[in-house]
Amino acid sequence: MYNTLLTSLENGIFIITINRPDKLNALNKEVIGELSSAVEAAYKEPEIKSAILTGAGNKAFVAGADINEFLQLNATRGEELARRGQQIVFDKIENCPKPIVAAVNGFALGGGCELALACHFIYASENAKFGQPEVNLGLIPGYGGTQRLTQLVGRNIAMELLMSGNMISAKEAMDYGIVNKVVQQDELLTTAKAILGIIQTKAPIAVSNVIECVNHFDHTQQGYDFEIKKFGECFATEDMKEGTSAFLEKRKPNFSGK
Ligand code: COA
Repeated sequence: MYNTLLTSLENGIFIITINRPDKLNALNKEVIGELSSAVEAAYKEPEIKSAILTGAGNKAFVAGADINEFLQLNATRGEELARRGQQIVFDKIENCPKPIVAAVNGFALGGGCELALACHFIYASENAKFGQPEVNLGLIPGYGGTQRLTQLVGRNIAMELLMSGNMISAKEAMDYGIVNKVVQQDELLTTAKAILGIIQTKAPIAVSNVIECVNHFDHTQQGYDFEIKKFGECFATEDMKEGTSAFLEKRKPNFSGK
């Protein structure tokens, strides 16, 4: 079905594996197009409850945008590449109403680091390496890296990583709050599946509302107002009635997603 991705569905978890291991899974146009379709499927297909994004092989998650495609670009085309990619993949992942976890199994550099940052959270294997090495190429991140990384790690660490292009280990990435959990490489997918298994037992509309509210995180009153509105909306769902009744009746809830 895809040329550059492997996909499978296991217990409601859609596993998307970027599959160009000989090029360290670099994001060329075809990968971006196919990733967009795969994420679209996560939005639309009712049998997909959550997703994992990972890379093929044991060396790389994604080693960046495909540098071969950069040389022919001028300023306008460069801007278009970034805008289109952000719209059809990165923002689409971030705003997906179902949880998407990055399972970072090796290098996550440049666009690869940005791809992981766009996911709702990140688990990594011990050999994972993160970095935004665009400055080595006379570039800066174009898929949201300056924004998402700064939001996650704060201004000064973001400045250092973005200006130096230095790679950091999975352990350092965890210390900075980029990665939630570091595990052995052969346990990475199982660990990601386990947390999604837990999330999938929760009320789906409530989970979607969490994603939306966290994405609206905002120091001003607007973020709080948005949360109040989404909190109110939950009361209109059958799952809210089911969840609260189940608690009071001392039984497990049976969520319908309505
Ligand atoms: N775009 C295109 N091709 C890439 C790539 C990228 N971002 N990253 C790796 N590759 C290709 C290499 O060109 C090489 O292809 P080849 O075998 O046809 O020559 C193959 O993937 C393997 O990479 P290689 O560099 O030989 O592996 P390594 O173990 O020596 O080094 C890295 C690994 C990740 C340190 C190195 O590949 C690298 O620095 N990649 C670019 C990272 C980057 O700048 N990303 C940001 C892009 S905006």
